[in-house]
Amino acid sequence: MSQIIGTAVSRTDGRAKVTGTATYGAEHPLPGLVHGYLITAQIAHGRILNIDTAAIERSPGVIAVFTHDNMPRVFTPANDWASAQIYETRLPLADDRVHYAGQIIGLVVADTFERARDAAHSAPVEYQTDSVLVEADNATYEDSPPWFGEDFQFQEGAFETGDFAAARAGAATAVEATYTTEAELNSPMEPHALVAHWQTNDAVTIYEPTQWVRLSQGTYAQLFGLPTERVRIVSPYVGGAFGAKAFPWPHGILCVAAARELQRPLKVVVSRRQMTANTGHRSQTAQTVRLATDETGQLIALEHTARTCTSPVEVFSEPCTAVTPVMYATPNLKLGQELAVLNVGTPTFMRAPGEAPGMFALESAMDELAWELGLDPVELRLRNETSAHQRRKRPFSAKNFAACLRTGAEQFGWGQRQMQPRSQQRDNLLVGWGMAAATFPGYRGSAEAKVRLLPDETAHVLTSANDMGTGSYTVIAMTAAETLGLPVESIQVEIGDSLMPDGGLAGGSQMTATLAPAVVNACQAVLEAANAETAQQAFASLQASGRASYEATGSAAPGEEGTQFAFQSWGAHFCEVMVDEEIARLRITRWVSVMDVGRVVNTKAATSQIRGGIIMGIGSALMEECHFDAASGHPVVYDLATYHCPAHADIPRIEVTFVGEPDLNFNPLGVRGAGEIGIMGVAPAVANAVYHATGKRIRNLPIIPDKLI
Ligand code: MOS
Repeated sequence: MSQIIGTAVSRTDGRAKVTGTATYGAEHPLPGLVHGYLITAQIAHGRILNIDTAAIERSPGVIAVFTHDNMPRVFTPANDWASAQIYETRLPLADDRVHYAGQIIGLVVADTFERARDAAHSAPVEYQTDSVLVEADNATYEDSPPWFGEDFQFQEGAFETGDFAAARAGAATAVEATYTTEAELNSPMEPHALVAHWQTNDAVTIYEPTQWVRLSQGTYAQLFGLPTERVRIVSPYVGGAFGAKAFPWPHGILCVAAARELQRPLKVVVSRRQMTANTGHRSQTAQTVRLATDETGQLIALEHTARTCTSPVEVFSEPCTAVTPVMYATPNLKLGQELAVLNVGTPTFMRAPGEAPGMFALESAMDELAWELGLDPVELRLRNETSAHQRRKRPFSAKNFAACLRTGAEQFGWGQRQMQPRSQQRDNLLVGWGMAAATFPGYRGSAEAKVRLLPDETAHVLTSANDMGTGSYTVIAMTAAETLGLPVESIQVEIGDSLMPDGGLAGGSQMTATLAPAVVNACQAVLEAANAETAQQAFASLQASGRASYEATGSAAPGEEGTQFAFQSWGAHFCEVMVDEEIARLRITRWVSVMDVGRVVNTKAATSQIRGGIIMGIGSALMEECHFDAASGHPVVYDLATYHCPAHADIPRIEVTFVGEPDLNFNPLGVRGAGEIGIMGVAPAVANAVYHATGKRIRNLPIIPDKLI
């Protein structure tokens, strides 16, 4: 047995990415390519009275203009999350209605990008405007419809065990507070973009970044009334997605429809400003948490309710309370989730959807409770650990949360913390220490991979899976190398093409747990096909026989284990902030995270994933917010200069340690995934440190300087 799994391997696609040879969606050059630019609504609610398409067509280089008056026929897909799914149920250019500012109302196609953009920007549009609602505080909330959540099942928002009200009435200690978070933008580095190329009127190749190649294929097939085989999706590289590139958005559907009409390859790139309305965001949230304990600090009652917002054309609840039954044991648990409709673009999944803002509320409240009890917040969490998922009523398969807390506390030096706010100073600045827990479900789907052994002593792995910066290429190569007994350099990985076996979804942090077992099975199958014990024997027999290759396909899928266990990853963050109160300057100066994610395949990539999650969490804690102007309905941010994300100078050295054991009940490799857990608990760890430093409890993210003055 070689020892590749569990080591640190630099990403095999790294050189292609840093040298610019990695080809992204908009970078596929095709002869005869024409360029589409979206026309977007200047109003946030109302009706289009007229678009002067004749004027647009007179613009230099314009080939065609599409509006709701001449939108080509598109069929309604099943939207069953299995065969087909689109983000926004309203099809593009479906009618003359405008539901949110920046909504797509047309597409200009021209011979160059610049001429398409110019014509689109100067398109004369007349509107009839209706009243606009973009402020969450003024919205009308109703009970949320069930959301697509844990176990990939629909889940009700309301849940109760025991009797919260009675237990709280009899409690020794109680805290209650409301926490809010602002709307956030997914902000992948690669903008949403695609090239659609119809070979004939009933066969199309779509070059588009996607987290789920096969679902994308099935969805476009249904939208255009084609057999699945007639749609090819090519997505070898995805420049970040964070949940917003799993299904087609309206711009993608419109591009493919227009390309068919024109019978020319067509490229549509969504501008950074257009992305604020048309490619998803995380809804703002308002959450109330009520905690009550007995004299010993044992939780006896916990209530968590959340309000989030969606667009007029899709139902998406940011499921903030999904995380709550997992974290702390309580006999009386009550959850509620409400939803309102605003004139804003459709919200969607964004790294740890629901869980990340949910954890801000829950872990801030736990810190408030610790101060109320005069108890170390680490000790409070240890005291209230749960061994079972309290909603699904199953024990956790492998849980090392206590080890995360203890190891993190020791590495950080938590024991030296002064137990009063404003008690620590350095360099004339206030110093605060904060901590919070992290958790994320272990998801796994089914996948297939093909392995080929060639006489040149290389092995090729082919699967439709994708790498959105997560490290899938390298994980697949390492898994194949380990199973075949070859060096990583001898493995060539080809992914992101619907012609290849179904590699599953890169979402819910599940790609490694889904795919790696299939790669193992495919490697074993190819050795069997070669009648060989080792890859070297198979290579020798290829060379001796003159045969071109050995090839086999392997698959893997979850079994019945989910009926017995709940699978969940765990972690703890410890951080130090330094605050200059005179100028309200806050810096994060130290960060220690300890994670239990089951077996780690690539320690380097997994550490990077956790660090990336923490950096994104620091963004949500300190900077990220997308407000909508109450009068116009437009987002007041429109690019990566106005929408603030952390840069290098904002981030200290982040120490990451993995603890725990392989979760072998979950899959044969025992891996759970590291994509999302890093962001979990980051914002509350910062807010808790800010309280320790300043004595100010900030319950509204992000913690911008105004709130510290
Ligand atoms: Mo993730 S938000 O499941 O892509």
